[in-house]
Amino acid sequence: MKVQIEDKEFSCFLEYEKIKKRTRLLGIQLNVDYENRVPVFIGVLNGSFLFMADLMKEVHVTAEMSFIKVSSYMGQDTSSGVVKSVIGLDIDLKGRDVIIVEDIVDTGITLSFLLDVIKKHEPASIAICTLLLKPQSLQHEIEEIAYVGFEIPNEFVVGYGLDYKGLGRNLRDIYRFVPDPTDT
Ligand code: XMP
Ligand code: MG
Repeated sequence: MKVQIEDKEFSCFLEYEKIKKRTRLLGIQLNVDYENRVPVFIGVLNGSFLFMADLMKEVHVTAEMSFIKVSSYMGQDTSSGVVKSVIGLDIDLKGRDVIIVEDIVDTGITLSFLLDVIKKHEPASIAICTLLLKPQSLQHEIEEIAYVGFEIPNEFVVGYGLDYKGLGRNLRDIYRFVPDPTDT
């Protein structure tokens, strides 16, 4: 299936049923790893809202949840590399087991910045749970990335929380941008 968003055409890449299945497995892994602990899940808005909701339904350990926002991308389709600030970090993370929930890790610039900020709060542990990872795009190794839904090629994706120019976050499946072969 294809969708048109503004000037670009996207084709279906990851169906929701597949995302759901993978999310269930991530939940099982988290339930084992965080047994007898009370982790704090921090969802990075806006992109992670659907993934966070589905993931939390698979996590059965007692957990705390919060959402933060990192101002960086501003609805463009390429990384500006400019990460400004973290908004909404209102939980005391000292001594806590923190799990950052991301929609996608692309260059890793956003995450590196976020990790620096969170480490200053002296949590007991930090792990990243990201639905998508673009390994070819990652600029430096981030050892905290412990849970990955899918590794994907270096292509722009939209849907299931991810947007193109602010649009398409509500799409149930994930779509990838198909460049027009006649474009140079
Ligand atoms: P970096 O490069 O800092 O990017 O790891 C992290 C944030 O950039 C956004 N991003 C995307 N959004 N489709 C999107 O809709 C993409 O293919 C894409 N790649 C990066 C996203 O907000 C992510 O958290
Ligand atoms: Mg994001």
